[in-house]
Amino acid sequence: MEDKQVKVASPLTNIIRARLSTDNLQVQWQVLGEYADISKMRCRRIYAKPGKKLDLALFCDSGRIYVLDAWCSHMGGPLFDGQIEDYNGSCHVMCPWHAYMFDLKTGKNEIGLKQKVYPVKVENGIVSVLYQHELGLHPFL
Ligand code: FES
Repeated sequence: MEDKQVKVASPLTNIIRARLSTDNLQVQWQVLGEYADISKMRCRRIYAKPGKKLDLALFCDSGRIYVLDAWCSHMGGPLFDGQIEDYNGSCHVMCPWHAYMFDLKTGKNEIGLKQKVYPVKVENGIVSVLYQHELGLHPFL
């Protein structure tokens, strides 16, 4: 299988890196697993080792993987239980609680809410996310 590399958008990446680095935590590529497995699910929760508040939501559409904060910036709905929709010509997730739409590339929505978006890479068939905490596909014990 040919490796797919999700190119990191530089301005957004720089903003995210700057924001994360202020936490005095080391941001690094956190391995999630094999692309062949991960890309089978359209939406899924990604667990962060420190706990629920830092979990992420992963979305896969047309072979591309997007990772955003798990909890909706409106009132905390679980975005990983949302639906991927084509909206205004780009790929969005619809929050299951109040149906606000968030662009998967930018994390923005029409009324000014915003989800953090995290860089994703696929290298040698392995998906990794640039994040400051260890991540897993299952809850940490
Ligand atoms: S909690 Fe997501 S739209 Fe309200």
